[in-house]
Amino acid sequence: MKSNFRLAFCFSILVLFLLSFSASAAVSMKSVIDIGLKRAIIQYTAMANVMDTIPGKLPKTILPNGTLQVSKPTWWTSGFMPGVLWYLYDYSGDKQLLIQAQNFTDRVECVKDYTGDHDIGFMLYCSFGNGNKFKPSQHYKDVLLKGSESLISRYKESVGCIQSWDFGPWKYPVIIDNMMNLELLFWASKHSDNPQFAKVANSHALKTMQNHFRPDFSSYHVVSYDPANGGKVERKSTAQGYSDSSAWARGQAWGLYGYTFCYRETKNPVYLQQAINIAEFIVNHPRLPKDKIPYWDFDAPNIPYALRDASAAAIMASAFIELSQYAPKSKGEKYLSVAETQLRTLTSDEYLAQPGTNQNFLLMHSLGHMPEKKEIDVPLTYADYYYVEALMRYRNLKKL
Ligand code: GLY
Repeated sequence: MKSNFRLAFCFSILVLFLLSFSASAAVSMKSVIDIGLKRAIIQYTAMANVMDTIPGKLPKTILPNGTLQVSKPTWWTSGFMPGVLWYLYDYSGDKQLLIQAQNFTDRVECVKDYTGDHDIGFMLYCSFGNGNKFKPSQHYKDVLLKGSESLISRYKESVGCIQSWDFGPWKYPVIIDNMMNLELLFWASKHSDNPQFAKVANSHALKTMQNHFRPDFSSYHVVSYDPANGGKVERKSTAQGYSDSSAWARGQAWGLYGYTFCYRETKNPVYLQQAINIAEFIVNHPRLPKDKIPYWDFDAPNIPYALRDASAAAIMASAFIELSQYAPKSKGEKYLSVAETQLRTLTSDEYLAQPGTNQNFLLMHSLGHMPEKKEIDVPLTYADYYYVEALMRYRNLKKL
């Protein structure tokens, strides 16, 4: 009798285990994609309505007092909200989303003449670049070409890179994030007869490969050069990471994403190998959590209690989905599987905001600038942008 009872008990435990396993497996990637994109439409429609009442500005994050923080068009994140609206228009075909995408893209136009830092690619390629992809126009092309000229005005031949910032203790700082601005230049090289765009982009990518990366293919955040001394490396350090020698999570994500599109645009196998090397550093890292949302820095001091960075996960997911198509099969499958886990986690209640909450941003729990104690555990427009992009990339890849 006793053993019958034990058998029945074990059997019920097994049934419960199988039921819960099949329940979690039952959430298909199609549902994940639909939930994420439908929520994005709710949140960003509401966001656009709020921003309609704040002329000339773009959303940025939430301040510690819980209110919405906005930015001027020349702040590096200005293009992400229009970029999200373009993806959502592409997803839904909704006329109202098209109108809002066009309206908020217009707000960023002045960036075409901006030369105050390197972020012109972020600002213009996500807004006008997506606009030109989904609703091509000569005006959008003209803005992108003018912006590309502004961007290459920050390039110095003696260094071989575009200068990122004009502030700080460095002579000629180049940050790993700067890789992201090259996508605009590759576009411009194909839509103009100016050979300078591709030359600058390739020189910057190759120089960065040479000087930003460590033997394990993690990257420094800031490499500073000395233009007056033959462009020699002056110093390798961090601005947003835990330490000069640490692996700041978003920096690793920018590098991964950057070399992946460098390969797409040039088919130079050197870029593919670099993207794979960075991917291997990330996916094999012993401190990448099981749910694949990285801590804000792979070397943060209080892991496993360190804060996570949803923005880094979203950028990585988008890059992994693309890289999975170029990498050898077994590696490609691994990258796609990491991206799937990232998208599942980001689409859970832990990260995805409930409708009407989170000041209408989509994702919670990103981290902007830990050393300056700014934007800690907040929503950020770029987390939302790369999350939506990753959902769309996955949907297109799998034809869902
Ligand atoms: N480009 C600045 C950042 O990633 O925070």
